Amino acid sequence: MPSHLSSLTLALLVALTCNAAAQSARERPLVIAHRGASQYLPEHTMEAYRLAIRQGADFIEPDLLLTADGIAVARHDRALGATTNIASHPTLPSNIDQITFRQLQGLQAISRGGAAYAPPGAGPAGLRVPSFAEVLDELRTLHASTGRIVGVYPEVKTIGQGLNSYNRALADAMLAELAHPRHGRLFDGRRGNVILQSFDGEVVAYLSRQSSLPVVQLSPQCPTRADIPAIAARADGVGTQAAQADADCLQRLRAAGLFVHVYTLSNANPDLHATMFRNGVNGVFTNAPDTAIAQREQALPGARPREWVAPARRRRD
Ligand code: G3P
Ligand code: CA
Repeated sequence: MPSHLSSLTLALLVALTCNAAAQSARERPLVIAHRGASQYLPEHTMEAYRLAIRQGADFIEPDLLLTADGIAVARHDRALGATTNIASHPTLPSNIDQITFRQLQGLQAISRGGAAYAPPGAGPAGLRVPSFAEVLDELRTLHASTGRIVGVYPEVKTIGQGLNSYNRALADAMLAELAHPRHGRLFDGRRGNVILQSFDGEVVAYLSRQSSLPVVQLSPQCPTRADIPAIAARADGVGTQAAQADADCLQRLRAAGLFVHVYTLSNANPDLHATMFRNGVNGVFTNAPDTAIAQREQALPGARPREWVAPARRRRD
């Protein structure tokens, strides 16, 4: 030891260096449970969301649609055939916007199958299509009973284009539920545990105007340089297909201050999780949260756990 350094000074220097290293470590990219842990259980059921939570997902992702009587429910497809047993109920309408919430509760939720989703027949009997209210109740109860925060990343699934009456009513129902007094202020944005999303630019702009929560513009193709200023004016981040998220794409979105989440990963191509994490995406939508978490640890050992604080939101004039 140099004579001019006391052991106390040396210890202080080591501590400061370690602290600086810890502070500069990258925050873990998000593991977003796409339709819940839909690799293993029927998508958009409470059981699939609960499994994702048990596996350690940072966020769960409900796609939302409105029933005929105006209840926001977690479902991806307007047509009920692929993910419910509507075929066994020939007298009922087969589209979600034509069926009442009560009628919907009489249907069994099932998996669409395929390599990226749970096999047909997976899960117990009696799985239902949950309302968005039930999903938020689950997260609030989890937080109240354990202190754990799991984020929610709801998507306005549009019928038709733009801010038509259906899409606006759905966006309003989603925002009203997030702000419902029984949730306290859990979903008000202070903790960074809510991200809104839509493929429709008019809906994204509407959500931005109506709410202070962060909003993601979904875009199957990585937005071009020409498209980015308009997107950056209405959104905080972009969700794009994993195959689109090359270095150029990430660079130009980041340069505009946008974060980047990619969809949709699964056990059909498990190593893609690690590839995306190494490439520097800010989060992945995955059907297999357990695979994503294992690959995140492998790809980014020592990355900092998420801090549940409100992100700086883009200024929108
Ligand atoms: O919302 C991100 C990702 O889920 C988009 O694809 O069709 O599964 O909603 P989709
Ligand atoms: Ca979605």
